Amino acid sequence: MWQILPKPFTILAPMEEVTDTVFRQIVTRAGKPDVFFTEFCNVDGLQSKGREKVIHRLQYTKGEHPIVAQIWGNTPEHYYTTAKELVEMGFDGIDINMGCPEKDVIKSGSCIALINNRTLAAEIIDATRRGARKLPVSVKTRIGLNTIATEDWCGWLLSQNLGALTVHGRTAKEQSMVPAHWDEIGKVVKLRDQMKLKTMIIGNGDVRDKHDAEEKALIYGVDGVMIGRGIFENLWCFSNHQPTKDERLHMLIEHARLWEKTWGSTKHFAIMRKFVKAYVKGWDGASELRAKLMTANSASEMEKIISTSHVETSK
Ligand SMILES: Cc1cc2nc3c(=O)[nH]c(=O)nc-3n(C[C@H](O)[C@H](O)[C@H](O)COP(=O)(O)O)c2cc1C
Repeated sequence: MWQILPKPFTILAPMEEVTDTVFRQIVTRAGKPDVFFTEFCNVDGLQSKGREKVIHRLQYTKGEHPIVAQIWGNTPEHYYTTAKELVEMGFDGIDINMGCPEKDVIKSGSCIALINNRTLAAEIIDATRRGARKLPVSVKTRIGLNTIATEDWCGWLLSQNLGALTVHGRTAKEQSMVPAHWDEIGKVVKLRDQMKLKTMIIGNGDVRDKHDAEEKALIYGVDGVMIGRGIFENLWCFSNHQPTKDERLHMLIEHARLWEKTWGSTKHFAIMRKFVKAYVKGWDGASELRAKLMTANSASEMEKIISTSHVETSK
């Protein structure tokens, strides 16, 4: 899958409680990236009684291809079983999260904590690869835990001969508090070239839109660019379109309707309300409208608030 993408390709970053199937379908309407990722899904939860609580993270529709399932956890055997299931589910790739900087996650020895447990990291990659058979296995990581360790850690990951390696240009300690170190991401590209590998290098951190992604690819030589929070600034960031106020409001209603249709009462509508600020901004009266929309408990309530505000502004 990775080898046949146009270059530089774009990816919508995995974001927990954001990039679910509903959001990916909405982003597709606004301007589709070349690849989608699911939110991270815990393999230990998936292979236990808690399965029902996490399986919704792997839900997707046909229009979301190519789509990569992102997984994390601690038990190689669970990676193996999950990878086999992901093949059956029709995913185009499997990504292992080795970057999450959450304290509890690090304490449990998962994700970026694997930087200090290469034996387990190698077992996880191997188990996933065995289960994935022909599907490509990739890793998403950061450039270090407490200090920058790009050559050591990313060099080691490259030696695992992955389909792709996504590098978020910050250490776990830096969270998202400093600008991403794109020069470090550039070093990973050079390492890959020195090692004469085919692994695709994907850069991630602070990229605003497709135009910015193309610029980063040109400067740092990455094959692809992943955009996370840039999508909150402009949902149309993969098409470089600047939406009008009406387009924004129309898309918010579509999003809320699809959200309700897909999740019904299985998720709380408060999760949907979190998206309001991504749509309602940039014009006089936006913050008042936002405040009203934050009280809505359904798509039809949102619609009513928006149509009332239209009547008020045209008076
Ligand atoms: C709300 C939120 C949830 C996230 N969830 C995940 C996740 O499930 N898996 C993952 O690999 N990264 C996750 N990330 C990190 C992003 O994928 C990305 O690496 C990070 O936001 C930096 O990229 P950006 O500067 O373009 O946002 C999350 C980030 C945010 C803001």
